[in-house]
Amino acid sequence: MALSKEDNELLTRVGPDTPMGALFRRFWTPLLLADELPHPDAPPLRVKSLGEFYVAFRDTQGRLGLLDARCPHRGADLSFGVVEEGGIRCARCFWKFDVEGNILDMPLEPPDSPLWTEAKATPFRIAEYGGLLWGYFGPQDDPPDLPEFEWTRVEPEQRYLSRFLVDCNYMQAVEGGLDASRVAALAQAGALGPDDPTGEEAAHTVHARETEYGLLVGTAVEPESGPAAVSATQWLMPFYTTAASGRRGLYEAAAWTPIDDERAMAFAVTYDPRKPLSKRLLREIRQGKRLHPKLAEGSYRRERNRDNGYVPEGGERPPDFASRFQTAFEMAIACQESMGAIVDRSNETLGPNDGAVEGARRILMQAAVDLMEGTIPVIVRKGEAYRVRAYAGQVDAPETFDEDASVIHGVAAEV
Ligand code: FES
Repeated sequence: MALSKEDNELLTRVGPDTPMGALFRRFWTPLLLADELPHPDAPPLRVKSLGEFYVAFRDTQGRLGLLDARCPHRGADLSFGVVEEGGIRCARCFWKFDVEGNILDMPLEPPDSPLWTEAKATPFRIAEYGGLLWGYFGPQDDPPDLPEFEWTRVEPEQRYLSRFLVDCNYMQAVEGGLDASRVAALAQAGALGPDDPTGEEAAHTVHARETEYGLLVGTAVEPESGPAAVSATQWLMPFYTTAASGRRGLYEAAAWTPIDDERAMAFAVTYDPRKPLSKRLLREIRQGKRLHPKLAEGSYRRERNRDNGYVPEGGERPPDFASRFQTAFEMAIACQESMGAIVDRSNETLGPNDGAVEGARRILMQAAVDLMEGTIPVIVRKGEAYRVRAYAGQVDAPETFDEDASVIHGVAAEV
């Protein structure tokens, strides 16, 4: 069912005074790759998340700090500051704050100024976990669980993490990541190339089943004879998707975190739960062949992006799907970005195979409304619920998705 304009606003607006913004502020949010703050006193970083600016830094003792970027004195951006001797010093009048926002120094204030005890920068919780730095912007005395994704718990050499900017609202990006019907259609069009997990020409059905963490989205591609290819992607509250790679034993996942209402920062991960990633795979990743696009120099914008039509300068525009985009992943992002920053969902014409997209929207909007009425989502206290895997494999006789899903959950339960 198409969404009303009001529901679309509810779904897509994530600023501080919005219901969806309040919901997202109940979860930890990926902000940075951990190695972007590689050592004590590294230059501070400015971060925009959920429509607001923060500064992240590591102090001289290696402690992480995350403060409102606005200096409490006159509002200068603290990310212009310098991290030195236990804190971050503002570039304007040189006030210095520790990781909890307390004043350490005010060189231009007299020793008896009341500001020594009154002034404080606004601190937020920050955690280093699974190769990322995460921020928490909800009630600071009541942090949620960190999500226990499998990729957060493997050794660093078993995963590859990257981040990149997406030119649309977070929900469009999420929808691109969970659209199993599109994956099946691509498979039938032969557009997925050698990593195609779903097989040759065949009828396909898409099912979405609600779980405690979000949705299990399954596609069964059934040839006229022989085993069916079953793939399952997961959508996990509030903005995570997972997929099984076509390559045996490899998994991929993404977090589509809102920068603001009109842009998202994707955190992508490729991981192998059993062993370190091979040199060959890492070479492929760096060539942009998997989930990790090449970036324009000095930025998190992709080299191939909406503004250049996904064809860098001097490149030729290939004629067909299979060669038009570097990967099916890029194709999905391009399609979602092509809808505009916030697509008008009242104009959509959805069919039965769009059930996962509708389900995710419904769950998010209901959770936002419930939170307004005082009910905190149970999932924020169940970090262990994120211990699930995507799945791609063959099933002899798929009768119903519930049975297939049990097979999938059987695999997921081992994680
Ligand atoms: S504005 Fe930061 S110290 Fe004055």
